Amino acid sequence: MPANPDYPELTSGKAHWRYQPSSACLQDQVILITGAGDGIGRSAAKTFAVHGANVILLGRTRSKLEAVFDWITDHTDTEPVIVPCDLLVVDDNSANALAQAIEEGFGRLDGILHNASLLGPKTPVAYYPSEDWAKVMQVNAFAPFLLTRTLLPLLQQSANASVVMTSSSVGRQGRAYWGAYAVSKFALEGLCQVLADEHENVNRVRFNSLNPGGTRTTMRATAYPAEDPGEVPTPESRMDIYLYLFEQASLSLTGAQIDARTWKGPQAPTAAPAS
Ligand SMILES: NC(=O)c1ccc[n+]([C@@H]2O[C@H](COP(=O)([O-])OP(=O)(O)OC[C@H]3O[C@@H](n4cnc5c(N)ncnc54)[C@H](OP(=O)(O)O)[C@@H]3O)[C@@H](O)[C@H]2O)c1
Repeated sequence: MPANPDYPELTSGKAHWRYQPSSACLQDQVILITGAGDGIGRSAAKTFAVHGANVILLGRTRSKLEAVFDWITDHTDTEPVIVPCDLLVVDDNSANALAQAIEEGFGRLDGILHNASLLGPKTPVAYYPSEDWAKVMQVNAFAPFLLTRTLLPLLQQSANASVVMTSSSVGRQGRAYWGAYAVSKFALEGLCQVLADEHENVNRVRFNSLNPGGTRTTMRATAYPAEDPGEVPTPESRMDIYLYLFEQASLSLTGAQIDARTWKGPQAPTAAPAS
């Protein structure tokens, strides 16, 4: 891996990290990232590759995935893979095909970052179009269920796999006008808790939910058009918690609800494991 991967946003972001993982903390890990072409997912893909992971880049816009793929192959010695996939239409067949491809390519899966998400309209429930409601629930809640369920056997081939569900403040406390987005994140939190409980002491797969908090991305700009993006933390400034959740240091953590804004590092008791 090049000593300096030429990733200035990561260099700047590190100034805000509360945890300093080793440069090879994800060496040879195989991690699937959904929504890897933009925003937080793109930042996670590049950061994980810089730290040694072979990333499987799933997203709906091929050109964006290719740009991330090119950057990773130019700047790291890892082996990224592109999976163009619209989670709006993912089904048993496409999920099984993905599992088969991962099985053939890597033989196991060490982690999933469920990150792709649709914001949907910000409108009162009374006026919320049912078609939009169904789409948001499909992408934000059903797709993570389907992918996790289908990929569980591959996760169980890993020595210690980690699944992270990307939540939101409005998925922990409902808020007016956030409609299906908020409800889908509550569903994701529920899925995470059920899976963590089902797998506690059974095998080596851990499940945690993470609220990145306000982060400078297209989704954030859409949700808060009046906000100055320069005042919002970059995705790279949040990557310490993302690395932590996929590396050895978090091995015993499962069933936790973590907020990236208040997380103080691995030793701080901000994350409460489920009992
Ligand atoms: N940014 C924030 O302030 C914030 C705060 C709290 C929680 N979050 C959560 O953090 C996660 C990442 O958000 P972000 O801000 O990085 O969002 P973003 O900039 O909008 O990126 C979302 C990514 O998901 C992909 N995606 C959307 N629908 C998809 C579909 N049907 N199939 C496949 N991929 C799809 C997008 O693909 P395209 O590139 O093709 O559009 C994009 O790459 C989300 O789960 C979000 O809810 C974000």
